[in-house]
Amino acid sequence: MSLKNIFYTTVIFLVFALNVEGGQNIITVQHPPDKSVMELGLLSVSLSMPPGSIDVLEIKVNSEEKLRIIPDSVFECFSVLLSIGNNKIDITGIKEKKPVDEISLSIFRRSDLVSIYNKPPSGYKTNYFHGKERSECTPCHELNPKDSDKKPINILTFSEETKKADETILSSLSTCYSCHKKITAYPYVHGPASVWSCLTCHDPDAEPEYATLKPDSDQCFQCHTEQKNDWTAKKFIHGPVNIGKCAICHSPHASFNPFNLVKPSWNLCVSCHADRADGKHVLTGWFHKEGHPTRGKPDPIRKGKKLSCASCHNPHASDFSKLWALEARDPLELCKKCHQKY
Ligand code: HEC
Ligand code: HEC
Ligand code: HEC
Ligand code: HEC
Ligand code: HEC
Ligand code: HEC
Ligand code: HEC
Ligand code: HEC
Repeated sequence: MSLKNIFYTTVIFLVFALNVEGGQNIITVQHPPDKSVMELGLLSVSLSMPPGSIDVLEIKVNSEEKLRIIPDSVFECFSVLLSIGNNKIDITGIKEKKPVDEISLSIFRRSDLVSIYNKPPSGYKTNYFHGKERSECTPCHELNPKDSDKKPINILTFSEETKKADETILSSLSTCYSCHKKITAYPYVHGPASVWSCLTCHDPDAEPEYATLKPDSDQCFQCHTEQKNDWTAKKFIHGPVNIGKCAICHSPHASFNPFNLVKPSWNLCVSCHADRADGKHVLTGWFHKEGHPTRGKPDPIRKGKKLSCASCHNPHASDFSKLWALEARDPLELCKKCHQKY
């Protein structure tokens, strides 16, 4: 490379670098603040920028490209999925094929299921969005809830009634839909969330605004009275159920798994009981070297389901210790439900 070329390359590099430098603060993040803590997996982001200042917004989550947005107004809103633990959100504003602004946000997703992520690192905190003046959003979004955000829900007649309901009408009546629309965009949706009756659980008069009852079971048992009566009468109640933490295992909104479980059933149990994964515990005292299968086979009793921990243990409660499923009273009776030979 000639001296002249090196000179030009350096100039171009400097102009480029200064461009990024000098271009700082084109994009303003309205929400979320850096170092926020989230509970659930969906993060809403809103940005503002001077008109015409950005051609393309490039969004990366943990270095993976997630979105490319062509801004059509001074405001851009989008949402991204978070992993448990720390998440790095990189937002690059591109003008005439050059990056002119870069913003990086660190968002921590807390979880009761992974012990190292039970608590956020120091310096991180929960930044509530609601309960503050949000005049920057109200030109385009309605923020005051209305009557249609709370519908009477009768769990006994629910599935019949919703067959007749029209989802597009229900969501169009919701105040929450315009910002939280992706919260129900999963294969399994919880009854009241599916009809956008968000205020059946989120109280607009609570402090902080929209807080739900704690423990979760106080909220859940308002409708699930059959389960409440059944489980609370049992002699043995599973640890997390006993302390009312239903949302450790169930999403109150929607998920990829049946029963709105936050993980597939087997993975869920193993998050807290890793030592049981190999199934060796099932055959202690049976002179078997190999463990008993705990997954990957069809469940012989619960047709259409796969074998899992829940094939042998009730996830909530039982009258017998070890929480036997299938109404079994002891291990031998349990074996017999699936193996005639015992
Ligand atoms: C200039 C108008 C405008 C302003 C101001 C505005 N939004 Fe939006 N927002 C929109 C539009 C339009 C959509 C819907 C886009 C669509 O339907 O695809 C939207 C969608 C959203 C979404 C859903 C994004 C998704 O893909 O899931 C969120 C979250 C959101 N806005 C949050 C906010 C917040 C928070 C504020 C205030 C800080 C705000 N918006 C201010 C116009 C605006
Ligand atoms: C203008 C957009 C907007 C609208 C409309 C909106 N939300 Fe939110 N909401 C947000 C944003 C942004 C957050 C921050 C968390 C996130 O990233 O999702 C949030 C967070 C929340 C939280 C967590 C607590 C908090 O304050 O951060 C709850 C609960 C909630 N919203 C419920 C509702 C309900 C119920 C409605 C309808 C009555 C509603 N929201 C309408 C944008 C909106
Ligand atoms: C069955 C009760 C129930 C219903 C119905 C419900 N939620 Fe929630 N929601 C909860 C619970 C429980 C939490 C977790 C609160 C916590 O522990 O921080 C929550 C949390 C949230 C959060 C905060 C997420 C975060 O990462 O911290 C948002 C946003 C939210 N709900 C929005 C909605 C919207 C929008 C609707 C309507 C579609 C809705 N909810 C319906 C029970 C409910
Ligand atoms: C406002 C009433 C209401 C509240 C509160 C409520 N649920 Fe539900 N739940 C329903 C309805 C309605 C259904 C759907 C029943 C149907 O489809 O027949 C349902 C279904 C479920 C299912 C799936 C059941 C099945 O057999 O597929 C689970 C799991 C569940 N809820 C858990 C919870 C948890 C956990 C909470 C607390 C965070 C909760 N629910 C709070 C009304 C409620
Ligand atoms: C340790 C995880 C865990 C906890 C905590 C938990 N559940 Fe469940 N729940 C499950 C699993 C797993 C299933 C699916 C069982 C199956 O495969 O048959 C289930 C199924 C359900 C069902 C539908 C079937 C039934 O048994 O009626 C409801 C309703 C339900 N749970 C509500 C709740 C409520 C309410 C709480 C809190 C009091 C709660 N769950 C706490 C794991 C859990
Ligand atoms: C959030 C963590 C957590 C999850 C998830 C979890 N458990 Fe547990 N489990 C506990 C705790 C805590 C105890 C109580 C430990 C004790 O008392 O020694 C317990 C105890 C048990 C016991 C022993 C009960 C007894 O009387 O000896 C069984 C069986 C069990 N869990 C099965 C399951 C199954 C099946 C799943 C999945 C559906 C599951 N667990 C998911 C935390 C969890
Ligand atoms: C085929 C039936 C079966 C399956 C599948 C199964 N277990 Fe067990 N589980 C048992 C038996 C039998 C015992 C009692 C062992 C003993 O007597 O020590 C038990 C005991 C337990 C205990 C209580 C241990 C104690 O010392 O109190 C826990 C916790 C447990 N299992 C969790 C799980 C988890 C998590 C899974 C899924 C990875 C699972 N089990 C799958 C049959 C099963
Ligand atoms: C929920 C049903 C279920 C229960 C309860 C159950 N098993 Fe199994 N067991 C299975 C399935 C499924 C297999 C795998 C069969 C295959 O490989 O096709 C299996 C395999 C086995 C095997 C491996 C050899 C064989 O027969 O295929 C042994 C040994 C065994 N079980 C013993 C037990 C004992 C002892 C108990 C009671 C502590 C028990 N099982 C409870 C479903 C069950």
